Amino acid sequence: MAETIKDLLVGNVNWAANTAKERPEFFSKLSAGQTPKFLWIGCSDSRVPATEITNAMPGSIFVQRNIANMVVHTDSNLLSVVNYAVKVLKVKHIIVCGHYGCGGVKAAMTNDKFGFLDNWLLHIKDVYRLHQNELDKIEKVEDRENRFVELNVLEQVSNLAKVSFVQEEWDAGEFPYIHGWVYSLKDGLVKNLKMSINSANDLEKVYQYQNK
Ligand code: CO
Repeated sequence: MAETIKDLLVGNVNWAANTAKERPEFFSKLSAGQTPKFLWIGCSDSRVPATEITNAMPGSIFVQRNIANMVVHTDSNLLSVVNYAVKVLKVKHIIVCGHYGCGGVKAAMTNDKFGFLDNWLLHIKDVYRLHQNELDKIEKVEDRENRFVELNVLEQVSNLAKVSFVQEEWDAGEFPYIHGWVYSLKDGLVKNLKMSINSANDLEKVYQYQNK
């Protein structure tokens, strides 16, 4: 485990040397440009890096991460990433990947204060409120947290589908498909929540844009 800045810099030199040795074309090819097929919206948690857990190489996945993998419609950082991914890179798939044991989701379930972070956590609390009936019935805290993680991913998938320029892509063609995944820190495996959508049909009517 890297503990110091020096560890990281030495690690970089070793990684570059090994990669150049194992894949002689790697740097010349990637330095020419990127054509990722996937956009990843994940949690900032250090234990859930997109490329490592999917065994994918640099160049494969365009990435946005924040606390609890949220799609907040006033987050211009996230929206810029999504816009570039769908309009310019033309990614075929968008993956919202949450993870069990997510600190942000757990924190949002409590009544504790976390300072500045409270404002971000409010977006997660809003998801709790939407699913309060189901979640309140789950007695074991860990089970409730796990289900909340899953429901939160599904809500963020819906939030992506509500974005007008995502719907524009669907009007023009098949892609992008949006998927909801949850990663388990305990065994390293992804649970596919089986939600793969490429239309706004499942959204409530008020969110469905029409072409004029
Ligand atoms: Co997390």
